[in-house]
Amino acid sequence: MAKMAASMVEHGEDAFRKLFKFYKRRNPPPDFSDVIDFSKGLWSDKVVSAKLDAAAVSDVEARRVGLRPVRDWKAFGLQGYPGFIFISNPFLLGSQPFWVRQCLKSYPQKPNVCNLDMHMAPADTEDIWGKSADALRLPPSGKREPKTLLERLRWVTLGYHYNWNTKTYSANHYTPFPSELHALSCHIAAVCGFPGFDAEAGILNYYRSDSSLGIHVDESELDHTRPLLSFSFGQSAIFLLGGTQREDPATAMYMHSGDVMVMSGPSRLLYHAVPRIVPAPRENPCRPALETHTQEESALVGPVSEEDRTVCSRYMESSRVNVTIRQVLGPGQSFPETLPPRNWTDASRTEEYHDGSSDGESGGQKRRKT
Ligand code: OGA
Ligand code: MN
Repeated sequence: MAKMAASMVEHGEDAFRKLFKFYKRRNPPPDFSDVIDFSKGLWSDKVVSAKLDAAAVSDVEARRVGLRPVRDWKAFGLQGYPGFIFISNPFLLGSQPFWVRQCLKSYPQKPNVCNLDMHMAPADTEDIWGKSADALRLPPSGKREPKTLLERLRWVTLGYHYNWNTKTYSANHYTPFPSELHALSCHIAAVCGFPGFDAEAGILNYYRSDSSLGIHVDESELDHTRPLLSFSFGQSAIFLLGGTQREDPATAMYMHSGDVMVMSGPSRLLYHAVPRIVPAPRENPCRPALETHTQEESALVGPVSEEDRTVCSRYMESSRVNVTIRQVLGPGQSFPETLPPRNWTDASRTEEYHDGSSDGESGGQKRRKT
């Protein structure tokens, strides 16, 4: 079976699509032995260690956003993928619940935009967390209950809101970017050699255990010299990293809770996809830590109430949240003069995004998530 995955990537033409289908398959389940697991260190001959700029962020700055001192981070590169950096869970023990709560409770709130806004009245998407929390806190009753709004959430956009129809960002659809997420992103980018990174747009993807994200490249940002950052929480995923052409072969790797991925330089515009969500190796990635780190006065990462933790861990038992952070404009750059975007709330894009037929075949710039 491992041979099968290897032989498929040699075929050239449809290598990525075949690999996507291979890892997405339910029956029989695929062999995962070729999937690189960075949490196991320099475990494959393709994995190399990556150099970070540890002096770029002080221990105090790191702690304020829930990160361990940079000298303790384990960062890797992949042979053949210059500019690709994988940081194996740099978060302090006990700080992930804060970020998970932000992703579930805070970031879906207005004025941010989510998939539910596309076909629901504004009043109905006002309090996604509040309308879902009680049902999620209760133990499952056994009988099939209607899905909570939180369980129907598929994406949220922050900052410059990505327009799924036109595949563009625009000056006139911007809302304030969350400051703590901005700080976290700046620190990660600085350590990876990109001081002055400006987190201007965020796309949060919410995956259930049967979700996937089709083959795509993120090229709508206007400055491709700025890195793309990715944060993963909850259940694990198989991530496929391909080449500059859609049909180029791809490398499979696990993304576990807390893992951070940076696509920069020659790796910034590589095709990639998420064919499968897999159970987290550890018991429960969002479980409150046994020893919570002492709270700094100036911490941006605050304590999470017992109630909120319960809802977060219940939801995350079967979900994964991925946050991608993008700088859209280069220094001094502005959006080209265009007609005001039409239909940014057009529901058709949402339907396409979740049409349940994703097999990794979405072409070029199209991203499909099921
Ligand atoms: C994206 C993306 C990958 C992931 O949102 O553009 O590629 O791990 N996400 O969810
Ligand atoms: Mn992407």
